[in-house]
Amino acid sequence: MTGKRILSGMRPTGKLHLGNLYGALSNWVALQDSGGYDCYYFVADWHALTSDYAKTEDIRANTVDMVIDWLAAGLDPAKSTLFIQSSVKEHAELFLLLSMITPLAWLERNPTYKEMKDELTEKDLSTFGFLGYPVLQAADIIMYKAYGVPVGVDQLPHVELTREIARRFNFLYREIFPIPEPLLTEVPKLLGIDGRKMSKSYDNSIFMSDRGEALQKKVAAMFTDPQRQRKRDPGRPELCNVFTFHGLYSSAATVAEMEAACRSAAIGCTECKRRLADAIAAGLRPIHKRRDHYLANPGEVRAIIEDGNVRAARIAKATLAEVRDAMKISHEL
Ligand code: TRP
Repeated sequence: MTGKRILSGMRPTGKLHLGNLYGALSNWVALQDSGGYDCYYFVADWHALTSDYAKTEDIRANTVDMVIDWLAAGLDPAKSTLFIQSSVKEHAELFLLLSMITPLAWLERNPTYKEMKDELTEKDLSTFGFLGYPVLQAADIIMYKAYGVPVGVDQLPHVELTREIARRFNFLYREIFPIPEPLLTEVPKLLGIDGRKMSKSYDNSIFMSDRGEALQKKVAAMFTDPQRQRKRDPGRPELCNVFTFHGLYSSAATVAEMEAACRSAAIGCTECKRRLADAIAAGLRPIHKRRDHYLANPGEVRAIIEDGNVRAARIAKATLAEVRDAMKISHEL
């Protein structure tokens, strides 16, 4: 566990789908396993409140479900520190202190803020907390003096704001914070079974936990090349979501075989999907095995989280002591 510190987080949306697995989680696991980084991964449950303050009943269960998916995907508590934002109260204090130095204009011009406010019209997002979302995120990141933040492109504006806030702090008080880098990885864009972006809110996701008949049914329902109406019509794998998934889960030989058989109409979509469902089931088997272990041992999950909270708090407390001193605020009597 030596090396540069990495930090990332996810809002507790509950169980994760294959888009989350390939978009973020597998990258987190790869960074952990590369051995060169000291990784901190946390559940941003306070961030969930910024948009879901009126409906909080699922946040706790979603938090635990998500940690179980992380462990199932291969995050290893012996290598990575896994913790919960709301358990490390220093995040709130640093958020407050950073809010004092963050110009309103930086928050108001944040593209994510404007988009989300326009899109999520069913929620009233005209709150102080929602506007301050990126300030809390900045606190999360610089608290650990992270060198790198593995995120998707959608998070780039937030990391950029974090960099600006860190620079401003360093300029106003003292050079405490390294300026964090976003770590982007090329990720295959995974579509849901209906051909739109895979998203929990579209109800089109294949979950990491899906297996057996439920998994087969979802794969059977996947949209394919719209021009391939009958089995005898030749298909175009490059336009087919099922083929993209074969690329992730099937052997190179199977991928080649499916491609040729689709183009020549030697097999139909039903058969191709059956092969895919089997390949996904096999690919997810180690994940399901770990998941079953943790589901059967909830005490172990609790202990992992508690240990992670303690490890994170140790760093957070040290950072806050430096910050208070630099800002000449608060006495430890
Ligand atoms: N905003 C991130 C998301 O929606 C979650 C998040 C909160 C985060 N704090 C963070 C990500 C710090 C990286 C670093 O996915």
